[in-house]
Amino acid sequence: MKDGYLKVEQSPALAGEVELVGAKNAVLVIIASLVVTAGKSVLHNVPLSADVFEMIELLRHLGAVIFFNTEKHELLVDTTTLHSWQVSSVLMQKTRASILIMGGLLARFGKARVGLPGGDAIGKRPIDYHLKNFAKMGVVIHHEADYLCADVERLVAARIVLEYPSVGATENIIMAATRAQGATKIINAACEPEVLDLIACLTKMGAKITVEAPATITVEGVDVLNPIEHTIMFDRLEAGSLLIAAAATGGEVFIPDADAGVLDVFLLKLEEMGHTITIGENGKGIHLKSTQTPRAVSLKTGPYPGFPTDLQPPMMALQCFASGTSVIEETVFENRFHHVHELIKMGASIHIEHNKAIITGVERLYGTHVVAPDIRASTALVIAGLVAHGTTTVSGLSHWKRGYEALEKKLQHLGANVVVHEAQNEKIMVFDMVRQAHHERD
Ligand code: EPZ
Repeated sequence: MKDGYLKVEQSPALAGEVELVGAKNAVLVIIASLVVTAGKSVLHNVPLSADVFEMIELLRHLGAVIFFNTEKHELLVDTTTLHSWQVSSVLMQKTRASILIMGGLLARFGKARVGLPGGDAIGKRPIDYHLKNFAKMGVVIHHEADYLCADVERLVAARIVLEYPSVGATENIIMAATRAQGATKIINAACEPEVLDLIACLTKMGAKITVEAPATITVEGVDVLNPIEHTIMFDRLEAGSLLIAAAATGGEVFIPDADAGVLDVFLLKLEEMGHTITIGENGKGIHLKSTQTPRAVSLKTGPYPGFPTDLQPPMMALQCFASGTSVIEETVFENRFHHVHELIKMGASIHIEHNKAIITGVERLYGTHVVAPDIRASTALVIAGLVAHGTTTVSGLSHWKRGYEALEKKLQHLGANVVVHEAQNEKIMVFDMVRQAHHERD
């Protein structure tokens, strides 16, 4: 039994108001960061996405006591009883974010013994920036079978230059530096809103962290970090996906929780397509009214505040039926075009030249069976299915669930016809999907 699928019908124009959950890429690192303190912390606005449950399991494995009030999206984490710095490869392979436990374990125990991380196959995703900069802080790292073993007597501050503003490396170095001797400077650091939410959380614990332009983060080590209460920022990637779904169906949607200030370039691109974006007071709340004649736009992904790579796949789906030609250049991950082949199966006109996808808008897409190889690709395929004629079945439900808390329910609330079919068993499932697709097509 491997995975379930989503069944998507051509949908009317999506309309209405919808809420957001907490940001997956903020809460994962913030849960991991709690190992730097010993005591009871409370996190609010915690999303129920599968990766969050994996991170909770990882902390429990280290000895933390955790209670998740899923109704209230409230997580109680007691790290007093943490007793281990070892995480098995099996657990580490479940997510990419698992690697973010290293910085906190080194700060807490001066030790970490972890397997290599998993995560979406959107590139080689090495962790060399993490390891070589831990080494600059005095950490001795060696490989033992498929384990990474890291040891340090006392972390020392360092001047660290990142050749690329890696989100994960920046976060891991910050967490280690909170307990280092002296002030660590990170030059060309990642300053994604999720990184800033981590910094806000650590600062509440008593960490001394400053962020200066251009992209320089300074962390002055302290002796004690205290447990905290923190509310996770809203998920800007969920907001972006919902806005794209509304635009794709020619709809109108209002997202009161959305913070426009963390989506500038993305919103600019929607406006360039001809959609009308209205921002609420103080940048809070985004209203989208679609144009019925969307123009194709080109874009280039990049580190924040550039166009977010996590919205590249759904934004590509949107260009598939806009008028004209768009060029999407993916500069963050070297292998993040897996969704292209699946969109072509639905009738899209796309060709790839190195890290550029050239999309020529077509009159219509057709429902068929497609496979989602990662989280954001699943979003792209579901959105294409909302517009395609006939029925689209998207397998790879586990990716959808890893990234979102029941996003299909929010789409249904806006009028979409998208249904989750949980895993039955492999054979029946595939037969059922294909039969369904053929039956619908005929
Ligand atoms: C985070 O991944 C996010 N994941 C990703 O979201 C997001 O796409 C990415 O940042 C960029 O915004 C989480 O926060 C859990 P990076 P991360 O380190 O930290 C290279 C999603 O869909 N690199 O900024 O893994 C790397 O290969 C996910 O929610 C090295 O070469 O991203 C990539 O090309 C997908 N060596 C680039 O840097 C390193 O040591 C950016 O990676 C580290 C990274």
